[in-house]
Amino acid sequence: MNKEEIIQRTAVYVRETLSGDGSGHDWWHVYRVWKTAIMIGKEEKSDLFAVELAALLHDIADWKFNDGDEEAGPKAARAWLEKLDVEEAVITHVCRIIASISFKGAGVKTPMNTIEGKVVQDADRLDAIGAIGIARAFAYGGSKGREMHNPEEKPLMHNSFSAYKNSKGPTINHFYEKLLLLKDQLNTDTAKQMAIKRHGFMVQFLERFFIEWEGKA
Ligand code: ADP
Ligand code: NI
Repeated sequence: MNKEEIIQRTAVYVRETLSGDGSGHDWWHVYRVWKTAIMIGKEEKSDLFAVELAALLHDIADWKFNDGDEEAGPKAARAWLEKLDVEEAVITHVCRIIASISFKGAGVKTPMNTIEGKVVQDADRLDAIGAIGIARAFAYGGSKGREMHNPEEKPLMHNSFSAYKNSKGPTINHFYEKLLLLKDQLNTDTAKQMAIKRHGFMVQFLERFFIEWEGKA
């Protein structure tokens, strides 16, 4: 099977597995990350085959929906790629990217050691900010039964992955605990540039949210 066929079959598999999800981790999230990753990946001169496979498979079995199991994603990706007879070196690389891609708390570092990993992590993070990021945050919060906002609950800066994983705060807090921090955690210059407008839009949204919360303007 050639690379193009492998990518196309993987896209069909992911689409079938994730379509209909209501938590912001649906096929269209993966589709956007895939397209953005190709765009950044070309600018950053990375190996697009690894970039595309990692982008397509990055949320195939996220720990957030697998009882916190961080191994579920890389395992599912490996099983799929082995079925397609993808070269072992590519499988190892793609699975390593998937294992390290997630945000793990405000005070927890999530380094990527290959350019392909940096590209896919940036594409995933860009989809968590801006207009789409706002929509996804509330979709995720709703799917987990979270309050939209509660002024009596203050945001927490999580210093460990387990503290972050177990947090159950309102969705507005998630902006302070993660979304507003992402622009300074991006790896590539291409993504940093793209983040400027998206970040600014979230700041504006929050300003309006708190004005309206108090019944003003
Ligand atoms: P990551 O693996 O870095 O968390 P994902 O692709 O899984 O990235 O996306 C996480 C998405 O889920 C983001 O859009 C984010 O806003 C949303 N999300 C995760 N945790 C929460 C939360 N506690 N409250 C609201 N949204 C959340
Ligand atoms: Ni994702």
